[in-house]
Amino acid sequence: MINIPKGTKDVLPWQSYKWQYIEGTARDVARLYGMREIRTPVFEHTELFSRGVGENTDVVGKEMYTFEDKGGRSMTLKPEGTAGAARLFIENGLSSTPMPVKTYYITPAFRYERPQSGRLREFHQFGIEMFGASAAEADAEIISAASLFLERLGIKDVRLEINSIGCKSCRAEYNRALKEYFKPRLGEMCPTCRVRYETNPLRMLDCKEEECKKISAGAPEITDYLCPECRGHFERLKSLLDGQGVKYTVNPRIVRGLDYYSRTVFEFVSDAIGAQGTVCGGGRYDGLVSQLGGAETPAIGFAAGIERLMLLMDNTQTPYPEEEKPLIYLAGMDGPTREAAFGIVSALRREGVSAECDLMERSIKAQLKYADKSGAAFSAVIGGDELLSGEVNLKNMSDGAVRTVKINELGAYLKKEKKSW
Ligand code: HAM
Repeated sequence: MINIPKGTKDVLPWQSYKWQYIEGTARDVARLYGMREIRTPVFEHTELFSRGVGENTDVVGKEMYTFEDKGGRSMTLKPEGTAGAARLFIENGLSSTPMPVKTYYITPAFRYERPQSGRLREFHQFGIEMFGASAAEADAEIISAASLFLERLGIKDVRLEINSIGCKSCRAEYNRALKEYFKPRLGEMCPTCRVRYETNPLRMLDCKEEECKKISAGAPEITDYLCPECRGHFERLKSLLDGQGVKYTVNPRIVRGLDYYSRTVFEFVSDAIGAQGTVCGGGRYDGLVSQLGGAETPAIGFAAGIERLMLLMDNTQTPYPEEEKPLIYLAGMDGPTREAAFGIVSALRREGVSAECDLMERSIKAQLKYADKSGAAFSAVIGGDELLSGEVNLKNMSDGAVRTVKINELGAYLKKEKKSW
């Protein structure tokens, strides 16, 4: 027996309706915001991620599924969707189309992490990426799209935290202040933080080690170092969110784990799913497109982890709409009536009615037992009499009520019944 790889999950037949519901909700919200779907390959040149996401991030430094293909090129399974979206934008000349370019995707992503609840090696993201808009209105639109998505799923147990990590110039000054603060305490900090002290001190604020967390609690806050433009942008975003009634708290500790961010960053966090509480994260990445060889293009987006959303919905008993079951099960008595049932079922499907009949050569009793288990809304038996009269006794499986319906009117009748639910 060959088992499923660690950190991956199968989606079983009775689970897939939950996926379809979440993905359907994502597509609906994307449509409301005028976002159009993009699809990028599952693997890209490794360099896209090392240059885009950042060599010194955990995602690139430790977690990538990188392999050499038969042509000797280094390829990587996408660990996230933003770098690929930016490459697509540049490579296909989307900058010469009307701005902003509004896109979304639903994609698998791969990170070689230690699997735990809510943390997988293959997971799925619904993401939105918008290119070309630098105004704070764009930030507010992206955050409100994420918020509406969660709202439409019925998720309540989540809070929105926002921050601004400034632009290159304010961040340089902030990094200096952080280095000054951490320098005398560096000996007590973990090896990763000591490396980050040299490469990207901002990321030290993201460390999960208890001792490091205690030390960084007293560190200077980025919001005190924002330049007037970045401060103005952040203030405007806050007032736009207030105006829309989107609730948030400012958390100056949010820095995000990927290098491409500038200015606005945000996370939707829940306490109901354990240590990996971020269900959705995003922010502005004004420098990414130019860093990957495109023209200077402001951009902003987010991604929500679908498995984490499911975990949150399960843990908080957030209901899903019921899975759709067959509308009718048609049982047959013997050779000719089974054949007739088979024919009627095929015709019903062509009319758009989901219908089932026996494929297992079961007895009539076993067929009706199966009809019950299948959750079919109606059932009927085709016997010799029914074939002669052209009518069946249609049984409503939920209340047992029976009514006679002409076989050639079954489709219309069932469709009308379904509409009235
Ligand atoms: P991220 O925060 O790395 O951001 O991931 C976004 C979401 O993906 C997380 O909030 C989480 O729900 C889910 N996720 C991440 N890693 C795992 C994992 N190992 N297992 C399960 N779920 C996971 C990004 O990926 C950015 N590209 C988001 C973005 C888009 N920023 C701007 N545009």
